[in-house]
Amino acid sequence: KSILVMNGPNLNMLGQREPGLYGHSTLADVEQLCRDTGAKHDVTVECFQSNHEGELIEALHNAGRAVKAGKMIGVVFNAGAYTHTSIALYDAIKAAEVPVIELHISNVHARESFRHHSYLSPVAVGVIVGFGVQGYALAIEGLIVKRGAQS
Ligand code: DQA
Repeated sequence: KSILVMNGPNLNMLGQREPGLYGHSTLADVEQLCRDTGAKHDVTVECFQSNHEGELIEALHNAGRAVKAGKMIGVVFNAGAYTHTSIALYDAIKAAEVPVIELHISNVHARESFRHHSYLSPVAVGVIVGFGVQGYALAIEGLIVKRGAQS
């Protein structure tokens, strides 16, 4: 089976973008960490990044179909700032009936108040916040434990 690791807006800038908050790892480094973590559990990790809300929505719809077909376990999703704005992503997770782990590299609750509310948390199976890029490995393992993955 597979897991989709999906990153939203501005996360292609990882490594250069506010390294004090997000660290020095690039998106390519993070995606490699994710593939390596999946491989330890015989799970294939697919990676997708987009700065466009509609593309993220379509990827959730496709992931929902893959889950229903028994090919995918679920999605680890860092929606970036869309977390705090997007009813459309909330609707997409519900519509696709796809298990999603919401992830944030930084501790959003220790930051500006506009980052304290998430549209995604109510429709996520779990949330990983503030563990840096290591959170991606925790989220993958959490999804495998929670959804009882077989390869
Ligand atoms: C983020 C937190 C969001 O508030 C922010 O807009 C991001 C990244 C994180 O990973 O900490 O783009 O999701």
